[in-house]
Amino acid sequence: MLSILYNAARLPWPTNWDEIYGRSAPLLLEIGFGGGHFLVDWAKRRPDANLLGLEISLPSLRRADKKIRSAGLTNVRLAQGNAWLLLQAACAPGSLSEIQINFPDPWRKERHYHRRLISDKFLHLAATRLVPGGLLDIATDHADYAQWITERLERTPWFDNRQAATFVTEDNERLRTKYELKAIDEGRVCHYYKFRRKMAPIPNPFPILEETPMPHVIMKSPLTLAEIGRQFTPQTHSSGETHINFLETYQSFYDQKLLVETYVKEGPLAQRVGLSIQQRQSGELIVGLHEVGFPRPTRGIQRAIAQLAQWLKGLHPDTQIITNNLGDAAETM
Ligand SMILES: C[S@@+](CC[C@H](N)C(=O)[O-])C[C@H]1O[C@@H](n2cnc3c(N)ncnc32)[C@H](O)[C@@H]1O
Repeated sequence: MLSILYNAARLPWPTNWDEIYGRSAPLLLEIGFGGGHFLVDWAKRRPDANLLGLEISLPSLRRADKKIRSAGLTNVRLAQGNAWLLLQAACAPGSLSEIQINFPDPWRKERHYHRRLISDKFLHLAATRLVPGGLLDIATDHADYAQWITERLERTPWFDNRQAATFVTEDNERLRTKYELKAIDEGRVCHYYKFRRKMAPIPNPFPILEETPMPHVIMKSPLTLAEIGRQFTPQTHSSGETHINFLETYQSFYDQKLLVETYVKEGPLAQRVGLSIQQRQSGELIVGLHEVGFPRPTRGIQRAIAQLAQWLKGLHPDTQIITNNLGDAAETM
């Protein structure tokens, strides 16, 4: 049982980490811990701190969980998910004392460079989540990625270097990770970066995501759900950092309901949800968020519901919107 595993997409925004660890202590984050050896060693060396290991890979999380339990460590928690989401949504500004990133995926092909974790934007996000003076350590064995990281760390306005040069190629004080041992074994040079967040305040263009009240639109339409379903075709809408895809519709056997499978991506959060179109006896339609899974009502979901209501309105000239609780998102209807 993975009792210390959290799903980054389900954590409160922001998360009260002291409550999760049951004590107040500096929070240290390892992103992409892989085998988990470094994380376990770090937790042993820092009994004064709360450690958080983040991974996308479930097998890695299971293996690390085992190691943590057999070492009897009580100061480590694990989270599954993407670094962008965990940092922006679950970590309040100034909540982290240290971030460690060992051998992030290098994404070798040029057309995949945009997937590289280390970017100007990521350094800015990480800086906003670190305390002033908080530490950021990165290691890589990939020569091209090292050059990329070097360029970004040399031009970042948010961090100072803690070493005499931008990177060193030996660090004997730390436990070697699986990738590090493999790299050394295969004769590749490792690059170690050690930076410190500046003490001055940092502008924060990465607001914590917010949940809205459960969104709904009430409409009047002469169309039946079957007629609406037949007119559906997949659609895509994009505005700023929000992307909405209406993928497919499904009709319920038991209640008068149509589900529209919808993908909503807003900044670091991606949700695949069901938007429901329910028909009352009076003929009114209620468009809302179906509560299966763990959908989080957000501004992106409000926008998706507004788009869906707008599409419904266009299906028949006698369709009207009666009321909604979508706030600003209702402007698109
Ligand atoms: C090359 S491996 C390195 C693993 C380990 N740090 C080591 O040095 O042995 C990169 C790891 O980062 C994880 N990862 C990649 N992108 C991530 C992201 N955006 N958020 C969290 N973990 C990520 C991958 O699942 C993978 O386990």
